[in-house]
Amino acid sequence: MEVDVPGPEARVAIVTGAARGIGAAVATRLAQDGLAVALLDLDEDRCAEPAAKITAAGGTALAVGVDVSDGTAVDRAVQRVADELGAPTVLVNNAGILRDNLLFKMTEDDWDAVLGVHLKGTFLMSRAVQRFQVEARWGRIVNLSSISALGNRGQANYSAAKAGIQGLTKTLAIELGKFGITANAIAPGFIATDMTAATAARVGADFEDFKKAAALTIPVGRVGTPEDIAHTASFLVSEGAGFVSGQVVYVAGGPKD
Ligand code: NAI
Repeated sequence: MEVDVPGPEARVAIVTGAARGIGAAVATRLAQDGLAVALLDLDEDRCAEPAAKITAAGGTALAVGVDVSDGTAVDRAVQRVADELGAPTVLVNNAGILRDNLLFKMTEDDWDAVLGVHLKGTFLMSRAVQRFQVEARWGRIVNLSSISALGNRGQANYSAAKAGIQGLTKTLAIELGKFGITANAIAPGFIATDMTAATAARVGADFEDFKKAAALTIPVGRVGTPEDIAHTASFLVSEGAGFVSGQVVYVAGGPKD
């Protein structure tokens, strides 16, 4: 069997929204897998702690501040990663925000902000990184969707963005496949992070009670952890996953869709 791609130790990964939660766990896991990792988030300082932990454990990490919904800033950040770590060929589009509201109360700003970060951000980052992947004739794109893509009360903006990400992912898989690039989406269910803690606070619930109530509705009987998502991302970006593309993997403790 011919091997014509560099080994995983040569890979450079970008993870957006990597300062905390799922993004920090994915960045940490990819570093453990042997990839050099660029941690992108709104503010470089916010990524300093997870980046330092990776470096202390013997990995390679770079913290970069960027707003993924700003095309000029995205291009600059991706170029900085290429200059400082090497050509990025793995991209995990994870950055996200919530602006939940029922439709009649949802503002244009709620809509634009959520679509801007999740959907436009995923487009801008993928467009900036694909040129390095095409040149390398190898690449992995993993986009964070959600079970909310199937519809969720109070999340017209977020569910539209997460469903849009599924369509975008499939199109990326079709367009980029011939360059050895795969694109897949992970659609998590309830994952315990600051994001779900903020949702609990918004509805006036204690987070522990909120998680217990959610766990009752999940077949495996527990809520998810950032590491559950990191494990799935690790598989999708692995060398051996090159024939898995255009898929949406629901990681929700049970079946969805
Ligand atoms: P989180 O709120 O803990 O972390 C999101 C990170 O994204 C933060 O560090 C934030 O600063 C960063 N971010 C926000 N806007 C940004 C921007 N414009 N540019 C760069 N970075 C930005 O959220 P969590 O829970 O870790 O979620 C990560 C992803 O997983 C999101 O896309 C979310 O929608 C998705 N997801 C989360 C689920 C959950 O239950 N926590 C369920 C399904 C999907």
